[in-house]
Amino acid sequence: MTQLTTVSGAAVPPFAFGTMQFGGRADAAQSRAMFETCVAAGIRHFDTAHVYTDGASETLLGEFARPVRDTLFVATKAGYSGGSSRANILDTFDTSRRRLGMDTVDLLYLHRWDGTVPLDETFETLAELQRQQKIRHIGVSNFAAWQVMKAQAVAQRIDTRIDVIQPMYNLVKRQAEVEILPMCASEGILPVCYSPLGGGLLTGKYGDGRTGRLTEDDRYARRYGVESMHRAAAELTALAHEVGTDPATLAVAWVARHVSGPVPILSGRTPEQIAPSLAAMRYVLDDALYARLCALAPTPPPATDRLEEA
Ligand SMILES: NC(=O)c1ccc[n+]([C@@H]2O[C@H](COP(=O)([O-])OP(=O)(O)OC[C@H]3O[C@@H](n4cnc5c(N)ncnc54)[C@H](OP(=O)(O)O)[C@@H]3O)[C@@H](O)[C@H]2O)c1
Repeated sequence: MTQLTTVSGAAVPPFAFGTMQFGGRADAAQSRAMFETCVAAGIRHFDTAHVYTDGASETLLGEFARPVRDTLFVATKAGYSGGSSRANILDTFDTSRRRLGMDTVDLLYLHRWDGTVPLDETFETLAELQRQQKIRHIGVSNFAAWQVMKAQAVAQRIDTRIDVIQPMYNLVKRQAEVEILPMCASEGILPVCYSPLGGGLLTGKYGDGRTGRLTEDDRYARRYGVESMHRAAAELTALAHEVGTDPATLAVAWVARHVSGPVPILSGRTPEQIAPSLAAMRYVLDDALYARLCALAPTPPPATDRLEEA
């Protein structure tokens, strides 16, 4: 399994923080406060992307990271818009490095699959960035397992490899359990999972009539607009109260507990919001509670559809 280290060789703890809100729903002061809270809590791995908040996410992260750069592991992404051509990767990654103020970025992801560009072109470009020491690791996000394996074959042919993948994974979005996470375990690829709280659903706040991303952002409203998901969030909240913790703590700890060893990417818009997610770093989720949490939402059927053999 890929082990992440900082450039100075220190092991990177298995929880990350996502800066998708930096310079957007979190202003510069809140973003800095979250960054500092995370570092104080032991987070070293920070995730951003070329497309987040029109570049403000990368710019702010770069500014906060500068004094402690060598103690951190920083990931960004290319190709969400404009695709995975050589020209687009080189152009957007150059901008990302400039915004971050970093010569080397620890991990560069392809933000999503692009079936229109030959994989050789994309991976030769990434391998070149690696040879030039502009990136340390290659990752892919929002890929199906067959796409990862196809891309990995190309990468290995040119003496590099996909070390990390970034799928969506949480208690009510469990598709990754079918192929992505078993593939990670089999191939030694580290899964770094986004949206551990289902975009905020699993904090239980929508059951109390509170507002947030799911009432403000149509994409997330549609992604998590299923009634059974809201029922699962209500049951998670009741269970958290029963065991004396916060639903967000249980939701994040549940992601980290999968046998393939996922790294959850925590996030929020204020330091107060992220406290229960950070508490998951120390929460010990025993087998019995893990099983009760797993039962809150259906286990996805196996890839072969032979349910009786699962
Ligand atoms: N690769 C990709 O395609 C992709 C996609 C999405 C995210 N990501 C990465 O993964 C990171 C995390 O994803 P995510 O933001 O979707 O994670 P998430 O943990 O599922 O959702 C975080 C959101 O939940 C709400 N929240 C968190 N704690 C709360 C609390 N205690 N009380 C009330 N609301 C709370 C906040 O949103 P509101 O206050 O707005 O409700 C917060 O921004 C991102 O920052 C980004 O780095 C990657």
